[in-house]
Amino acid sequence: MLLLSKSDIQACYSLTDCIKAVEDAFKLFSTNKVEVPLRTQIKNHANSGSYLCMPALCESYNASCVKVLNVFPENINRGESSINAQVLNIDTESGAINAILDGNYLTQLRTGAASGVAIEKLAKSQCHKGALIGTGGQAATQLEAMLISRHLDEVQVSDLDYSRAKEFAAEMTEKLESYKTTITAVPTANMAITDADIIISVTPSKRPVYDGTLVKPGATICGVGSYQPQMQETPSELVQRADKIYFDSQDAVLSEAGDILIPLRKKEITQSKFTGELGKVISGELAGRQSDSEIIFFETVGIAAQDLITAKSIYDKAVQKKVGTNWAN
Ligand SMILES: NC(=O)c1ccc[n+]([C@@H]2O[C@H](COP(=O)([O-])OP(=O)(O)OC[C@H]3O[C@@H](n4cnc5c(N)ncnc54)[C@H](O)[C@@H]3O)[C@@H](O)[C@H]2O)c1
Repeated sequence: MLLLSKSDIQACYSLTDCIKAVEDAFKLFSTNKVEVPLRTQIKNHANSGSYLCMPALCESYNASCVKVLNVFPENINRGESSINAQVLNIDTESGAINAILDGNYLTQLRTGAASGVAIEKLAKSQCHKGALIGTGGQAATQLEAMLISRHLDEVQVSDLDYSRAKEFAAEMTEKLESYKTTITAVPTANMAITDADIIISVTPSKRPVYDGTLVKPGATICGVGSYQPQMQETPSELVQRADKIYFDSQDAVLSEAGDILIPLRKKEITQSKFTGELGKVISGELAGRQSDSEIIFFETVGIAAQDLITAKSIYDKAVQKKVGTNWAN
């Protein structure tokens, strides 16, 4: 069995590779080629944590995995990751577990890649400014995916904790220098989103993090952080104003994401506003953007198909490039 750490994965696999893998994952999922039960979720009330277990199988891709993911949002206040995960990659012929992959890094990759695919498929071809709200553990791959998918002159980032946003902007300016994009921290989310062509929010907020009336026509917005019914980072006004609304999985979003469930419950929107799954845009079943003035909203809660195809494509690259530690029991 191969043990694949973050540095092993980085040695053989890029975020660009992952964007391709997640595009395949969304298409396979939306054409019913992936067996994915809704994930099980148990709450740890004492520590505001959740335990999630996500199995998946895609016979046509020869891929099978189980991801164990624990989300403890208070961890960031102790300088620890809010997410702790591992992915078991499974041989589809024998059922043998052939690799354990660093699930924290895999999650960052595939979550960033989901926004990358959405931006690639749904954003205007010419975009100039990006905005990123939330500069925690998931933010780095969100930012890089934005820059892989569109050339941007500038990205403004913001966070409830302004000093964290400033540190993040400084670190990413150095790390992503080759994209030649100006990355700056601003004190408020409203400053960041004003005039932005692409907006990503990735926070566990229970209150909308920006003013939806300030989003400009033509913008593409990815809502990434809301994964429980009481979490709403995307303002209802934005969801109401959106010309098109896409999901990674409509069932998963409708069972978990307050971003959509709260405006539905308050009758601020109806399901007739929903356009459908991004995978159906990729397969050609649904239209994507049809004009540069449309506001397009993509809501992602993260689905096991992303983990599955990402884990399998990392495993294949690691075997091919002889990366990782062999562990025999
Ligand atoms: N869609 C997916 O596939 C997916 C995958 C992983 C994580 N997530 C979710 O994304 C969210 C962020 O994850 P993370 O690992 O980066 O968390 P994190 O705890 O590392 O960081 C969250 C950041 O959001 C900031 N924040 C909180 N409320 C805010 C507000 N109102 N305005 C601006 N900033 C605010 C915090 O200060 C922090 O910097 C979580 O809710 C997580 O569960 C989604």
